[in-house]
Amino acid sequence: MVYFNRNNSELFCEDISLAAIARSVGTPAYIYSAGSIRANIGLFAKAFSAVPNTICFSIKSNSNLSVLRLVAQCGAGADIVSGGELFRALKAGLDPKKICYSGVGKTADEIRFALRSGILMINVESQAELELIAALARESGTVAPVALRINPDIDAHTHEFTTTAKKENKFGITLELAVNLYKQARDDDFLDPIGLDVHLGSPILTLDPYARAFDVCAKLIGELRALNIAIKVLDIGGGFGIRYNDETPFTPEQFAGLAVPFVKSLNCALIIEPGRFIVGNAGVLLTSITYCKQTPHGKLFYICDAGMNDLIRPPLYGSYHGIEPVILPAGGRRLVADVVGPICESSDFFAKDRSLPECKAGDVLAVMSAGAYGFSMSGNYNSRPRAVEVLVDGGNFSVIRKRETYEDLIRGE
Ligand code: LLP
Repeated sequence: MVYFNRNNSELFCEDISLAAIARSVGTPAYIYSAGSIRANIGLFAKAFSAVPNTICFSIKSNSNLSVLRLVAQCGAGADIVSGGELFRALKAGLDPKKICYSGVGKTADEIRFALRSGILMINVESQAELELIAALARESGTVAPVALRINPDIDAHTHEFTTTAKKENKFGITLELAVNLYKQARDDDFLDPIGLDVHLGSPILTLDPYARAFDVCAKLIGELRALNIAIKVLDIGGGFGIRYNDETPFTPEQFAGLAVPFVKSLNCALIIEPGRFIVGNAGVLLTSITYCKQTPHGKLFYICDAGMNDLIRPPLYGSYHGIEPVILPAGGRRLVADVVGPICESSDFFAKDRSLPECKAGDVLAVMSAGAYGFSMSGNYNSRPRAVEVLVDGGNFSVIRKRETYEDLIRGE
């Protein structure tokens, strides 16, 4: 995490001490580094400069308006999966012509919203959806730009909950059906089949599944062009892995080394949909230890004020997140502990049997690599107000989402 470093014993985000932020805004708190987000988008922009491309930030990974504004300032677009995400994208000033819309269950209202907004393309996931889009486009007198999301039956070796391109998954359209649906779209006055889309799953740590996907797409695009269906955009999805622990993911340059020759030979524009790569290591979750609990059976629990309602990745996927005290305790003794939250379930943990510097109640811990799928997957279970979000930029920081209050909890009830 390049933008999170220690100065002596204190952990900083850019030029600001995380302990100081915790004192100012309290915990639990999500802290994001603007510099890191800019740099990560810049890596993709540089790697793909040789071909026409759009970086469509996957909003589901972090949908805070200020983060989206930053993404827009960097010239990127968005990958959305709901009307709510489209609403956020437009509010943040993202260019509709850089927005693509995936998802297996788009409702008629959501499709109308997308058509009205003039987005780049709708990534279609079934025949029924294609027919609904055509009917709604006709109704509103517009032509809907579409891509078909194919399901190439490729195993990207992710957690079973986040794999999306195997034949047993609900996503995408088989290759055989896709050709027929492309013909149907070609022959419909209200559909414009401009793109081809695939998303393999996430996080993906090797290039091999992408290489297979490019092969499949290249073959299909050739076939479609012979049918007078001019595919102009290839959307290869997201899923680019990051380092949470000791993984060695490929870099944007390495990915471009694979992708650029394909894209050049296909003479089309490339869309990528990174979420995690942009924000995952740009954020941490700060939490204070409320109690240290030592059991007679030799278990030590650091019981924190953040819980699985704030960050659900460890219990949901068995995900690893680094955990570090924001101020390293003097003494250097390490102990093995479970880092847990206050929620009434034993699934409420951030780490189990983790060797950590010896801590005491009141110490603030940083749960690392929490910028993606952290706050965006958070909720109010146990009637817990959601955390404050903070954006650091150089020597400044600002609250970009207030901590929820008890009144927020009951609004609308
Ligand atoms: N495009 C599509 C169509 C997607 O469904 C996703 C993620 C992405 C792009 C972005 O993937 P990324 O680059 O962020 O890996 N909650 C899980 C991850 C779920 C991903 C869902 N789709 C987690 O915390 O690991």
